[in-house]
Amino acid sequence: MVAKEIESKSGQKTRTIQVDFTHGCSIYPAIAEELQGLEIGILVNNVGMTCNDHFAYFLEIPDSEPTITHMVNCNVLSVPQMTRLVLPGMLERGTGLIINVSSEMGVRPQPLLALYSATKAFVSYFSQCLHAEYKSKGITVQCVAPLMVSTNMTSNVRVNCLVKSASGFVREAMNTVGHTSYTSGCLSHSLQSVAFALFLPDWLRTSTFLIRKMRNLSNARQYERRVQNGKWMISAKEE
Ligand SMILES: NC(=O)c1ccc[n+]([C@@H]2O[C@H](COP(=O)([O-])OP(=O)(O)OC[C@H]3O[C@@H](n4cnc5c(N)ncnc54)[C@H](OP(=O)(O)O)[C@@H]3O)[C@@H](O)[C@H]2O)c1
Repeated sequence: MVAKEIESKSGQKTRTIQVDFTHGCSIYPAIAEELQGLEIGILVNNVGMTCNDHFAYFLEIPDSEPTITHMVNCNVLSVPQMTRLVLPGMLERGTGLIINVSSEMGVRPQPLLALYSATKAFVSYFSQCLHAEYKSKGITVQCVAPLMVSTNMTSNVRVNCLVKSASGFVREAMNTVGHTSYTSGCLSHSLQSVAFALFLPDWLRTSTFLIRKMRNLSNARQYERRVQNGKWMISAKEE
């Protein structure tokens, strides 16, 4: 669907390669084959997943054995593996852009989302090191570290002055390409990032006190959601 939209809007041809990034190393030979002969100027490593829709302790990850592997495969392994496939061609042509989507949680440790936060820290560090290594060869590696964007991942939370719509976020983020190798992606998120650093420093965010508070708030929200769903189901039955 997205491919068709790109084709109709840009008049360019698209090619879709269907893979499941949770499957790990086994998928990359097939991707490499599909990419053969293509001149790839821009790589966007956007794929990502979470394992909880609420704040939870590490040992509460549902179905943890496969989930941990899936998250590392999807959020971590995909980035260097896709880079390995695409970067040599970019180097040959002396130009290229790689955009890696990290998160604010990959810059500052976020307890109760430990695994997600750690996978995004990998993306941030990898991007910044790669940019340093290859910028002199015409390659730009940009790390985008958003806060909250309304997408499936965030249950399409309502857009407001703190939460960006996906299209609004991408529009602003694209304007930063070529100007910076690290960005929160949009003005609102950049300001929030500074505010977080000032008013919620790491020592406070990782304190047992705040972890308990966040956990209680998250439990209350979940409870509220369940009650709301329950009410909705009752009124639907009544109708
Ligand atoms: N939304 C936020 O607030 C936020 C904040 C910070 C960072 N991010 C990061 O932004 C990126 C995009 O996330 P999003 O918010 O747009 O979430 P999303 O709506 O859940 O989209 C995730 C994307 O990854 C793809 N994907 C997920 N698991 C996959 C798998 N196993 N194999 C292949 N493709 C898979 C999805 O493909 P399908 O559409 O086919 O499912 C979709 O294109 C992620 O890296 C995320 O960590 C998001």
